[in-house]
Amino acid sequence: MYKILEKKALGPGMWYMRIQAPLVARRAMPGQFIMFRISEEGERVPLTIADFDRQEGWVTIIFQEVGFSTKQLGRLEQGDHILDFAGPLGQPSVLDGFKKVLCIGGGVGIAPLYPQIKQLSQAGASVSVIIGARSKDYIILEEEIKGLSDSLYIATDDGSYGQKGFVTDILKDLITKQASKYDLVIAIGPLVMMKAVADFTRAFAIPTRVSLNPIMVDGTGMCGGCRVTVGGQTKYACVDGPEFDGHLVDFDEAMRRQGMYKQEERVDHFCRLTDQGGGSK
Ligand code: NAD
Ligand code: FES
Repeated sequence: MYKILEKKALGPGMWYMRIQAPLVARRAMPGQFIMFRISEEGERVPLTIADFDRQEGWVTIIFQEVGFSTKQLGRLEQGDHILDFAGPLGQPSVLDGFKKVLCIGGGVGIAPLYPQIKQLSQAGASVSVIIGARSKDYIILEEEIKGLSDSLYIATDDGSYGQKGFVTDILKDLITKQASKYDLVIAIGPLVMMKAVADFTRAFAIPTRVSLNPIMVDGTGMCGGCRVTVGGQTKYACVDGPEFDGHLVDFDEAMRRQGMYKQEERVDHFCRLTDQGGGSK
């Protein structure tokens, strides 16, 4: 059982949790993820690691309540326990040797960028960061990232904070108007954002890495649930990724697959609520 050492609200339905998990923390690297399961009957849900401390033996996760399991997780409090917290899973990010990196995070996708920004900054790289969210309340980790980056740009869809617009508007300004040069762009957020970033950087031949989080079942490369096409080849995000060359990812297929089980998820969510006497509203 994995104890919740700390819980904080970061925004509407967005939570930070610090979990006691010494074995996971000991081997965790930026870019990797864990799979949690709250109870014997629960589904296994992947979450990218947001931070870790090897000495103190904890790992942090940041998540948004979007489905049944993340809502259940959001109801747990400091001192409660999670049944399974398996990891670290997936391939670590390759960050060595980059001198000038632009990190782009959208919404809750800002969280998995944080350990990468931290490692890059500790290695002496110059790190610029663009973070974007639908409004001010959904911007997370601003202070933490500000302390590690050379420059931080913020966009909100509604203009309630930072520049009004998408992260890609700032990206386009940096590359075209300001002629900024980067060895690498790392983008993590909704598929549509990562696709827009990759489509733009492709024209400028800027290496671009994205992190995919498709539907996962076992997280070990056995079930095929998380398959994605990268450079015409089938890859499994849980073992070959979750990070891939953004210029080679078939985003249209990934978006189709992401929407495939929406109806089943709604039915399952409804059944579980009614099973628990949660009513039918
Ligand atoms: P969101 O829909 O609120 O979008 C966040 C930001 O992305 C927007 O503010 C905007 O700047 C940008 N964006 C959105 N649509 C865009 C478009 N068409 N063109 C350019 N930029 C666009 O984000 P959310 O609801 O917080 O969802 C976050 C997503 O990140 C989820 O889909 C989740 O699956 C994904 N995520 C991925 C990982 C990972 O490791 N790969 C981890 C966490 C979250
Ligand atoms: Fe089953 Fe990746 S989750 S193969």
